[in-house]
Amino acid sequence: MGCGMTRLLFASHSGAISGAERVLLDIVTAFPQASAFVFENGDLPARLQAAGLVVHVSSHGQTLAEARRDSGLTTLLPMMSTLLRIMAELVRSVGKAELVYANSQKAFTLAALASGMRRRKLVWHLHDILSPAHFGKLQRLLQTRLANAFADRVIVPSTATGQAFIEAGGRRDLVTIVPNGVRRVRDMRSKAELRSLLGLPQDRKLAGVFSRLSPWKGQHIVLEALTQVPDVTAIFAGSALFGEHDYAQSLREQASDPRIADRAIFLGQRSDVDLLMQAMDVVIHPSIDPEPFGLTLVEAMLAGVSLLASDAGASSEILANGRYGRLFAPGDAGALVNALNDEWISRRHHPADADARIELARQHALDVYSVERMNASIAGILDAVSGKA
Ligand code: GLC
Repeated sequence: MGCGMTRLLFASHSGAISGAERVLLDIVTAFPQASAFVFENGDLPARLQAAGLVVHVSSHGQTLAEARRDSGLTTLLPMMSTLLRIMAELVRSVGKAELVYANSQKAFTLAALASGMRRRKLVWHLHDILSPAHFGKLQRLLQTRLANAFADRVIVPSTATGQAFIEAGGRRDLVTIVPNGVRRVRDMRSKAELRSLLGLPQDRKLAGVFSRLSPWKGQHIVLEALTQVPDVTAIFAGSALFGEHDYAQSLREQASDPRIADRAIFLGQRSDVDLLMQAMDVVIHPSIDPEPFGLTLVEAMLAGVSLLASDAGASSEILANGRYGRLFAPGDAGALVNALNDEWISRRHHPADADARIELARQHALDVYSVERMNASIAGILDAVSGKA
């Protein structure tokens, strides 16, 4: 389907697989003839290759891994020579393609220049909120200027992400919203069975947090809330993926508080997130800064588990302002405590309503956030950009 005849090059910087890379891996299933350029070695290039793509890994990208997304000029300048080397490789790859699909910030920056030089079509799948909370002024300006000059389309997963792009100076007419697709298989075993299988406590209320450990993902808010809800145990699945080890360490220190020490369980990176989620009583999504999308939200909806999410960025869109889960003020542990208490009260007094809401959310997620739907939209966009539609 779509873009069959166009030589397509996917470009991404990180070799690790986080949310944006997971989405990319689903997209490429529709384009097995494509090629890919990845800055760093790692799981992503390996999986792209396994999906049938011809993958080029930069020989200079490893040093770039240290570049933080908020870097200013002082850290950026010494990286210039590395960037130029990667750029030279990318220009070669772009030369062989007709359309370039950039899936990350850093990849987009270089891909914009490379496709400008080679006069190739360029699509940017923007997985980040270009707001002051996440990015420095210089970077926001650079990214939107490059997009305005070189991108043929900017795909965003939510209104919030599109809005931030426009507010940062991006052209409104470039933006198309394509909600992320999520694939999940539901296990039919009961929570009790899953808990015993997974070695999780049976007799406690379990709240799960599923994302990489990163200050803005807000795991510390959940630990803070835990001190006020003595009957709840929190499990944290995910690790520090992008050098955020200090934060991981600070979470462990915070969790050593005797009031919560036996109720905070860190599981690290897990490949059985589907099962873990289904074993929870609630899933909490505590990001303190606006979330561009939040795959976890949709995963929890598909898993048929109650959802509590901070009201920032795409969360309120995905939860339809509270229809599919409870929203609480971002960064506010007290608000999270209230949301948890409300949840238990409504479960006790109106169990049928709670179940109905979970089922409503699951159906909605199946309808709106399927990989098939996402890929059909993207194929349409790529056809239009390459001039076929
Ligand atoms: C990034 C965003 C996250 C989103 C994912 C996929 O990881 O931070 O919100 O779900 O990309 O678009």
